[in-house]
Amino acid sequence: METTTDADTTADQAAFDALIAADARIEPRDWMPDDYRRTLIRQMSQHAHSEIIGMQPEANWITRAPSLQRKAILMAKVQDEAGHGLYLYSATQTLGITRDEMTEQLIEGRARYSSIFNYPTPTWADMGAIGWLVDGAAICNQVPLCRCSYAPYGRAMVRICKEESFHQRQGFEILLTLMRGTEEQRRMAQEAVDRWYWPSLMMFGPPDDDSPNSARSMAWRIKRFSNDELRRRFVAMLVPQAEALGVTLPDPDLRWDDEKQQYELGEIDWTEFQEVLAGRGPCNAQRLQRRREAHEEGAWVREAAAAYAQKQHAGAAA
Ligand SMILES: [Fe+2]
Ligand SMILES: [Fe+2]
Repeated sequence: METTTDADTTADQAAFDALIAADARIEPRDWMPDDYRRTLIRQMSQHAHSEIIGMQPEANWITRAPSLQRKAILMAKVQDEAGHGLYLYSATQTLGITRDEMTEQLIEGRARYSSIFNYPTPTWADMGAIGWLVDGAAICNQVPLCRCSYAPYGRAMVRICKEESFHQRQGFEILLTLMRGTEEQRRMAQEAVDRWYWPSLMMFGPPDDDSPNSARSMAWRIKRFSNDELRRRFVAMLVPQAEALGVTLPDPDLRWDDEKQQYELGEIDWTEFQEVLAGRGPCNAQRLQRRREAHEEGAWVREAAAAYAQKQHAGAAA
């Protein structure tokens, strides 16, 4: 049996540090500090859970989409999110956690997922606002993750980001169609933007001076930009798009600071963020309950797939 000495660990740590300093990639076979591994397992599994739970607010409208074409587009989008979830679960498994463990953590309420998916979707315009704002925020967060120091995460992000930009455009297009419609449709679009704007800003996480793990993630090159920096980039992307749509971003204090060359945002209601995070959002219980049911109802599919795989394996061995 191999024994690890302090000298080995120091050498391993030095090799890891050198890779990070050179902006190179860490592969699953490489030695990595336990904290780095734990941080990634937490972040990547939360990301995977968010993709999966994120299917629910939109699935709510698949059966009620206003046309066959809209239904087909929405179904494709929601299926993409399932794909993102599976892709990310696989990438997380390379760190030594099983898919079953991650699923258990989610359905038992021990894991987190993005709070944004705990908000309801009362109108069709919410499909537009989610695509434009929620997928838009996801892109701002995820494009820098394509260069994440952990290679499997970065690789997963490259493909996911391509699909996210389609999602954002389809959301924008839904809102644009509504804004070109009747007075009532325009109001519906604006109300959906009002509902989703602030929660989408909260997707970037707490302000920098209240984000204790950020600095470490940046040192490890998991994260490339701070929460506030990403949030400001997102708003800078939204402003001209909101103008093109003819919707108003519901922040009367939003202004361009010429000196700093950046947008200054109004005050974010972090109490609401904490409430939703603590499980007291409008749909937390419903989302988890639905996920639990889907897992139980899907048991026969998993059993059938396992039986089939075993049969194929036996056939190949014979
Ligand atoms: Fe996604
Ligand atoms: Fe998406």
